[in-house]
Amino acid sequence: MAILLPGGAGYIGSHTAVELLNAGKEVIIVDNFSNSKPEVLDKIKEITGKDFKFYELDYLDKEKLEKVFEENKIEAVLNFAGFKAVGESVQKPLEYYHNNITGCLILLETMRKYNVKKFIFSSSATVYGEPERIPLTEDCKTGGTTNPYGTSKLFIEQILKDLYKSDNTWDICILRYFNPVGSHESGLIGEEPQGVPNNLMPYVARVAAGTLKELSVFGDDYDTPDGTGVRDYIHVVDLAKGHVCALNKLYKEQKGLFIYNLGTGKGYSVLDMVKAFEKATGRKVPYKIAPRREGDIATCYADPKKAKDELGWVATKTLEDMCMDSWNYIEKSM
Ligand code: UFG
Repeated sequence: MAILLPGGAGYIGSHTAVELLNAGKEVIIVDNFSNSKPEVLDKIKEITGKDFKFYELDYLDKEKLEKVFEENKIEAVLNFAGFKAVGESVQKPLEYYHNNITGCLILLETMRKYNVKKFIFSSSATVYGEPERIPLTEDCKTGGTTNPYGTSKLFIEQILKDLYKSDNTWDICILRYFNPVGSHESGLIGEEPQGVPNNLMPYVARVAAGTLKELSVFGDDYDTPDGTGVRDYIHVVDLAKGHVCALNKLYKEQKGLFIYNLGTGKGYSVLDMVKAFEKATGRKVPYKIAPRREGDIATCYADPKKAKDELGWVATKTLEDMCMDSWNYIEKSM
């Protein structure tokens, strides 16, 4: 019985594929390489020493997707497919809603047709909008997302809740990621943003490498200890392991629909991250203070207790690991 990973060649999907293979699971990846590269597949094999099936397809292609379900015995699906650039989603709302929501609907319909009813969804802390309180617990109010990317995550969460209400033979786990950073310690897989990165850590790593001139720190007048934005950065390998724990949970004891924050519970500011990166790598990261970025909030970090209590999962990697591994990947790919 196999675990299907749409979007499994991407940043979080590839790291999760590694952890699933290491845990002895059978994995099938489907990907159309819209934001990833075919080489990633060989890298996953190199890291794990294990083989897996791969199909190159767009998950919006219902016929091709059905063939995957026909040809294999699939028992669970972890959905990593979807567009994720916040700024681009504002420019291309229809493309984002179509790809993220229609794609997910096609996937769920196909699963239902083949009676595969274990589903793990990659959601995001962005669904909390302006946080009701900090740290964020899973029962904090959601909504007030400021871009179509975030809203697509919110809508899919609602779709999953409605689906479960209609048919409680589904087992669904919604994982709300905080800010994934870093890469596998081998430096073989990592984040490969197309063009100029939007996210802080890929940007910082490229400034350190000299491919970008300086970092713009978006605002130093927030109500935070040093005035810059505070986030919960989580090492992507910890995040990937969270999926293995979630999957085990869906297999074993519990039936139903569950929601978990995947974060460390610690908040670091933009300047904390710059300093930590400089310290861990010995590279300089020149920066300037720039205006606030629209849609950004001051502070966002998780209360990860529910995942600890119910999944037995905690993030164990340090800020230094996150910085070292981000840098290691960039250095290796230069
Ligand atoms: N920042 C800068 N300069 C940059 C990039 C970012 O100062 O060049 C700052 C931001 O203002 C923010 C912090 O660094 O304070 C983190 O920004 P990111 O863009 O790395 O991450 P966000 O918290 O904005 O967004 C991330 C993911 C989203 C997800 C969201 C959930 O990119 O996909 O977390 O909270 F929805």
